[in-house]
Amino acid sequence: MTPSELFDLTGKVAVITGGAGGIGVAYGRALVEAGASVVIADLNGAAAAATAKSLAGGGSRALGVPVDVTSADSAQAMAAAATAAFGGIDILINNAAIMTDLPPYGLSNMPTADWDRVVNVNLRGPLLCTQAVLESMGARGGGRIVNGLSAGAFMAGGIYSVSKYALHGLTVNLASELGGRGINVNAIAPGFVDNDSGYASLPKDSPFREALYATIPGKKSGPPEDLVGTLLLLCSKAGDWITGQTILVDGGWISRL
Ligand SMILES: NC(=O)c1ccc[n+]([C@@H]2O[C@H](COP(=O)([O-])OP(=O)(O)OC[C@H]3O[C@@H](n4cnc5c(N)ncnc54)[C@H](O)[C@@H]3O)[C@@H](O)[C@H]2O)c1
Repeated sequence: MTPSELFDLTGKVAVITGGAGGIGVAYGRALVEAGASVVIADLNGAAAAATAKSLAGGGSRALGVPVDVTSADSAQAMAAAATAAFGGIDILINNAAIMTDLPPYGLSNMPTADWDRVVNVNLRGPLLCTQAVLESMGARGGGRIVNGLSAGAFMAGGIYSVSKYALHGLTVNLASELGGRGINVNAIAPGFVDNDSGYASLPKDSPFREALYATIPGKKSGPPEDLVGTLLLLCSKAGDWITGQTILVDGGWISRL
């Protein structure tokens, strides 16, 4: 197989939750360029439709749909829309998350409603969306699921870290459970991403950002496009033998190289 054949996604159908956000748009563009048909699913349905239109260039290989990943019915409707438009689902990217609108509390004094709000989107959402696509993936002989983790999972960063660390656990457990059905489940954990959400969670000129950069041996930060190579690896033939992994794309920050 040639390198381009290894990464070719022609004929595949991918669903990206949170697809209208900064990283989701970069993922959508890459998957379309690799040959896949792409469903951009987002809480902001209008933004999802606009993103899909911009990706497809008005063509027929991208569709925007509204979804609330915290609702099983909504996740099922998203999967049904993907199947109706493109015939089935091969790839699910669980990318939607609450990252900037986090509760202003530590864990020790957090109201349960705030805990539920974050955990529902960041953890329950990926589970519900996974459940919603399994029938279609099974009918197509297998598939790929990629969870949007964060380097923040592996440090003490409050409810966001807890939700992302739990998503690592969900990744490992789903990989174990679904491997026999030909479904690989992995995660990408980015470090500092140069986009609006990244800068909203830690301002560009914050001295704290500079202090953290000093602990990163490799590249300090990168645009969403720097995550695309890892995404394509995990979604394509090139990643056939990879499952249950969380891949840190963070310049060696968390591994303390
Ligand atoms: N930006 C960073 O610095 C960074 C770093 C590490 C990890 N991440 C992770 O990458 C992923 C994408 O981040 P981003 O920077 O593109 O963020 P973003 O805020 O730009 O995009 C998130 C998207 O998720 C959508 N969303 C939120 N709640 C939803 C729900 N209930 N149902 C459906 N969609 C919903 C939002 O509408 C938004 O379009 C997230 O999982 C985030 O935790 C981001």
